[in-house]
Amino acid sequence: MSQGGLATAVKKALTGIVNPATGQDVVDGGQVSAVDVDAEGNARFVFSLRRGDPGVLVRRARAAAGGVEGVKAVKVDVQLPQTPADGESPADRQSDARPRPQGLQPGSVPPPTPKPGILAGVKRIIAISSGKGGVGKSMVATNLAAHAAARGLATGLLDADIYGPNIPVMFGERRRPPVSGAKGSEMIEPLESHGVRLMSLGFLLDRAQPAIMRGPLIAGILKQFMEQVAWGDLDLMVVDMPPGTGDAQLSLVQTVDLDGAVMVTTPQKVATGDVRRGIKMFERVNTRVLGVVENMCGFQIPGSDEVVDLFGRGGGEELARELSIPFLGRVPIDIAVREAGDEGRPTVLSAPDSPAAASLEKIGASLLETLATLPARR
Ligand SMILES: Nc1ncnc2c1ncn2[C@@H]1O[C@H](COP(=O)(O)OP(=O)(O)OP(=O)(O)O)[C@@H](O)[C@H]1O
Ligand SMILES: [Mg+2]
Repeated sequence: MSQGGLATAVKKALTGIVNPATGQDVVDGGQVSAVDVDAEGNARFVFSLRRGDPGVLVRRARAAAGGVEGVKAVKVDVQLPQTPADGESPADRQSDARPRPQGLQPGSVPPPTPKPGILAGVKRIIAISSGKGGVGKSMVATNLAAHAAARGLATGLLDADIYGPNIPVMFGERRRPPVSGAKGSEMIEPLESHGVRLMSLGFLLDRAQPAIMRGPLIAGILKQFMEQVAWGDLDLMVVDMPPGTGDAQLSLVQTVDLDGAVMVTTPQKVATGDVRRGIKMFERVNTRVLGVVENMCGFQIPGSDEVVDLFGRGGGEELARELSIPFLGRVPIDIAVREAGDEGRPTVLSAPDSPAAASLEKIGASLLETLATLPARR
């Protein structure tokens, strides 16, 4: 088929996607424009999201275009609605307990335009995120990174939690990273710990100094962490995100081309609501959600077979099914995780036989398999 014919076929496929908010298909509704397919079969179009649109709309459109014979890859330029972010009340956006800095807000920014060339030596970059605080993002990030490193991958872990960096404690690191290079072009060396190259604002700030920063500053620090840290060549970089759907998430996707985000939730409804918002935000900025991890799911009473579902069960899996996102697995509440935290060693290394480590290993392995199938980063 000619390229023009392919573009027409893509447009036709997109008429099959009906926006439940309007009842109209997305082409007739004027939400799709600039449909183009190049000689290599790369399809591209602009998708204008509107207030109230379900987050899955973009993914469905992408899947429909990708299903057209002759189309090899699909790139969607998502146009975001104007502020305030749709469907979110200001209270929603404040739902994590920490102070929310002023500055960028979801929905107030143009689609991401990561500069090519940043972290060019890094093959894969994934963010570990959630809409919610305290669900185990840093624990999952720590263990996924340690798991990948133990399998022989050159792995980095970037702590993007500027307000409350957790990574130094989880790795038991108190050193200050050395600085190398000539005056004027100095680079910070990541700390290598348990086989993982680490960088965190926690290494650079004085201990217990609260990090109170505004959006633009966060963007600046993240960018510096990518450009001025001597990461070297990495097979995988894991980024541990702060809670919420705010500045850090937006800054990250605008700074660097992510391979995707892993969303962590606890099983109960109140948590999955926040995570749903988190997923929607990544979809809006055209970032693949690699899957959902359900953490703190079930506690086995020591010395007995009895399992108590302290936080309920299945909420993460249900959410994944509903949004057609892979469910990556569940991690039980495990004393080994708390002990690993106190010890400053990732659970997969400190207690490899624990139930939590077994789950984390499985999740890590399936994630690496998924990443291996994705096209290379730009
Ligand atoms: N499966 C688990 N079993 C036992 N303890 C856990 C488990 N998962 C996390 N924890 C503990 O819960 C606490 C919160 O976990 P973690 O810091 O990873 O969450 P977070 O989502 O990164 O939090 P924040 O939003 O503050 O960054 C930590 O003390 C951690 O050790
Ligand atoms: Mg954390």
